[in-house]
Amino acid sequence: MSEDFSPGLEGIVAVETEIAEPDREGGQLRYRGIDIRELVGRYPYERVWGLLVDNDLDSAMPEPGPYEPARLTGNAPSDLQAETARLSSEWKLGKLNEISDEQARADLGRLSAQMMAIVARSARVADGHPDPVPDEVVAKGKTAAEKFLLRWRGEADPKHARAIDTYWICTAEHGLNASTFSARIVASTGADCGAALSAAVGALSGPLHGGAPAYVKPMLEEVAATGDPEKWVKDTLDSGKRIMGFGHRVYRAEDPRSRILKETSRELGSPQIEIAERLEDAALAELERRHPERPLKTNVEYYSAVVLDIAEIPPPLAPAMFACSRVAGWSAHILEQKRTGRLFRPSARYIGPAPRSLNGDS
Ligand code: COA
Repeated sequence: MSEDFSPGLEGIVAVETEIAEPDREGGQLRYRGIDIRELVGRYPYERVWGLLVDNDLDSAMPEPGPYEPARLTGNAPSDLQAETARLSSEWKLGKLNEISDEQARADLGRLSAQMMAIVARSARVADGHPDPVPDEVVAKGKTAAEKFLLRWRGEADPKHARAIDTYWICTAEHGLNASTFSARIVASTGADCGAALSAAVGALSGPLHGGAPAYVKPMLEEVAATGDPEKWVKDTLDSGKRIMGFGHRVYRAEDPRSRILKETSRELGSPQIEIAERLEDAALAELERRHPERPLKTNVEYYSAVVLDIAEIPPPLAPAMFACSRVAGWSAHILEQKRTGRLFRPSARYIGPAPRSLNGDS
């Protein structure tokens, strides 16, 4: 491997950002300089959106306007990707290199709000209810999390709303991860905000990024059924599989989001917390034994799955729930890219066949 090639771009600084600071060694995460611990429980998610996008906790994500999705299938990640792309033409969004920063900020606000509503509506379709919940019922919610639940189920259990709000705040932004990078790449071409956000949704749907919580709940159920986390961990690793919810490209210390989500799971009385903690202990010990050179700690997805389960979120909905929170980070990065960025164009080293002729001559 030559010196200037970094597989997966690990360690390559591709942008400078003022938005979030994952503190690799200290295990802290700060949004615009503020530790997320100070935000959880004090500000609802929509104000954290304002902090990330506008650097202002008095600003907030707007309410979604009236909009009827074209065709929801009940598969929330793909519904969200398709509908977000469709909003570009539906709302005639302007290209990022042709509109003002203020217009881009307005586009991102209405897209973010509508994306949450689309996920709620898609989840409702998956539950067998194609009809929307009346606006006056949704309007009873005070926070974005409550309104999301009302739009989905017609009711908002306060415990469920708190679980979702905490989860959304913890996962609202995290530097140049794969989906945010995708959003910035698309934004760097001057495409519109709907194109950039829908690309990010596609990137988030993979199990190595936003899809892991969908695998964690079945894993916890499987481990609970065996009653022997240590054996389960050894068997899984021996068969060459990865344990979902462990390891991280950035953190070498414990993921601070995992700590907060674990506390919330305990406080809200998750029935899965006991087995989750037992599996965590077994996994950490075995991963350390097998990979002493590389700290593989609990990541955000592990206790996200436990918190989302408190709110009775079905595992297939997990990537779309992640997308709901990450619209804040993506929006902030799209704006930052517009203001300061440059078209992304990395290089590939050609390692294919040497020049050859169809006639067999070299
Ligand atoms: N379980 C078992 N082994 C793991 C592991 C896990 N969760 N995560 C990493 N490893 C091992 C790999 O098998 C590899 O071992 P090897 O060198 O013997 O082949 C080594 O650790 C390095 O893996 P690599 O994929 O290069 O590390 P990374 O830093 O690029 O990976 C993740 C980061 C998140 C992709 C990876 O840890 C992972 O796949 N985790 C599980 C999925 C998950 O939880 N995703 C959510 C991320 S927030």
